[in-house]
Amino acid sequence: MKLFSSVNDVTDINALAVEALKLKADPYAFQHLGKNKTLVLVFLNPSLRTRLSTQKAAMNLGMDVMVLNIDKEGWALELRDNVVMNGTTVEHIREAAGVMGQYADIIGLRSFPGLKDRDEDYSEMVFNKFVQFCGKPVVSLESATRHPLQSLADLVTITELKTRPRPKVVLTWAPHVKALPQAVPNSFAEWMCKADVDFTIAHPKGYELSGEFTQGATITHNQQAALADADFVYVKNWSAYEPYGQMPAVTENWLLTNDSLKNTNNAKVMHCLPVRRNLELSDEILDGPHSVVVHEAGNRVWAAQAVLKQMLESL
Ligand code: CP
Repeated sequence: MKLFSSVNDVTDINALAVEALKLKADPYAFQHLGKNKTLVLVFLNPSLRTRLSTQKAAMNLGMDVMVLNIDKEGWALELRDNVVMNGTTVEHIREAAGVMGQYADIIGLRSFPGLKDRDEDYSEMVFNKFVQFCGKPVVSLESATRHPLQSLADLVTITELKTRPRPKVVLTWAPHVKALPQAVPNSFAEWMCKADVDFTIAHPKGYELSGEFTQGATITHNQQAALADADFVYVKNWSAYEPYGQMPAVTENWLLTNDSLKNTNNAKVMHCLPVRRNLELSDEILDGPHSVVVHEAGNRVWAAQAVLKQMLESL
């Protein structure tokens, strides 16, 4: 594997999830693969889980890891071509990515969307330029439109915890106070549409995701109907795709409580984290028996390790 940016970069998602679970059972079996190999993790945006889990995964494989918070510690990056750099930007992404490629065997990049210009965000301009100019295998640590390491960890969690062969999985919108990207729900949807699950998306009117990511999903505006017989409930806020980055008013209550889960198949509740308590998810769910959010975050290590292992094997 030379690129991990979406579900389309994976030949067999079920085999990759099984490989992640094998690594969970035997984390250090492939330490030889990463000897004298360096992973450089580049962050244009904050992170807790992605940073630490990917670093831990690389260390389990015997790799050395360097982390650059380029938004805070690097030179201000110019992303546009054919501009006179007489403003605040100091270094062009062409040189910056090229130089980082000199120091790394594999590079990870996090680059969030601006949520202002949909065409620019959905072109993945920053991520794709970085891939083009660094010249090394790249793993997405979350890009403008997708978060594939999160989605793989979510598939690993569902594979590990399911109690029937084809579980019902519901992605439900949740409230928030600020406009969030569509990357996590886009990505979760495109992975679930390829997984062996019965997949439903529930959201208020106005929060339709791009059809590019939801082919095969059942889509409804009725959260309670969606939750019936669900095995897994994936909670996430996102802003509108159209009008892009906006937050259309929602009058109904979309905050899940234990009562909302009573018609599920004793559902496990998932969230990528960070989560705002009692805004996105209630205390009673997060502190109760339904929540698997911390377990899910733990699986970020094994998802990242499975991807890095495949990349190391292809060097
Ligand atoms: N879920 C996730 O990507 O968490 P971080 O933003 O903390 O990395």
